[in-house]
Amino acid sequence: MAALHYETPLVESDLASQRAGCKVLLKLENVQNTSVYKIRGIGHRCRKVIQEGCTHLVSSSGGNAGIATAFAGRKLGVPVTVVVPESTPEVMRERIRKEKADVIVHGKVWDDANSKSLELASQPGYAHIHPFDHPDIWEGHASLIYEIKSQLNGAKPGAVIVAVGGGGLLNGIIHGLQAVNWNDVPVIAMETEGADSFAAACKAGKLVTLPDITSIAKCLGAKTVTQKSFDLTKEHPIVSCVVSDKAAVNACDKFLDDHHCLVEPACGAALAAIYEPHFLVDLQEKGRLSSSQNLDNVVCIVCGGNGISIELLLKWKRDLGLS
Ligand SMILES: Cc1ncc(COP(=O)(O)O)c(C=O)c1O
Repeated sequence: MAALHYETPLVESDLASQRAGCKVLLKLENVQNTSVYKIRGIGHRCRKVIQEGCTHLVSSSGGNAGIATAFAGRKLGVPVTVVVPESTPEVMRERIRKEKADVIVHGKVWDDANSKSLELASQPGYAHIHPFDHPDIWEGHASLIYEIKSQLNGAKPGAVIVAVGGGGLLNGIIHGLQAVNWNDVPVIAMETEGADSFAAACKAGKLVTLPDITSIAKCLGAKTVTQKSFDLTKEHPIVSCVVSDKAAVNACDKFLDDHHCLVEPACGAALAAIYEPHFLVDLQEKGRLSSSQNLDNVVCIVCGGNGISIELLLKWKRDLGLS
């Protein structure tokens, strides 16, 4: 059966390269099915559980993972229930309903919605689709690297830039890099202040649970990153970086100007590595990224996202003093 995700374009961007001071390639997951990379891992996981006999999918995400699960269920002909917290805006609930899934609102934050979804998924024939913490999810996201390798005709990227929420994308990218023996390709792991559970874990040398998510990049808002992401810091070169909401929103704005694509601040966090002046060069100068690392072909995963509109972008720009 055909995959649920597309192969997305990998494009060299002169404008982004000029901004970053090195050759930048953009992996455009914003044009992926459901406008976000999530469908790669979630589609893979949904297909597997259905093959194993599941007749109902349950997701706990008021965001992009919920939309991806609903999309996968509709395409594979299996009903889907998405449990969202009260904080999920109506526009996202409506987007999930458009994929023909049932939406249940439960609790204040994702953790509450997740408990409810686990309870629902314990019924016979039901399967729980975690938004980021499952090996099937990472295996699906790893397809990004296999595609990039083929699109670059086997040439190695200088680095891969990713946004980190719960760590599902990060784990998948490293799974892919290890599978193709690109063990020395550094991964630049971008978060925003107030959603920086991976950076907090790297600093503390153990998993840390943030007291709250205060960043506007709500899709990066996992209070605790996966154990796997932390374990990978001992296996693979990962440079953990935290930027402000202002830098993430500014990157969304500049990316819109340059490429005429609208992405949410979770994606802006990754783009900030390109759009913040001297960001990559500074990492090298500070010794966080090896100075011998050839920064040609830096690949930025433009993860996309549905949590954005022109109105929201303009509001955030005003609120953050960017306009
Ligand atoms: C647009 C976008 N980017 C990045 C992330 C981070 O995802 P992960 O939990 O896989 O680290 C998310 C998570 O929902 C997202 O929606």
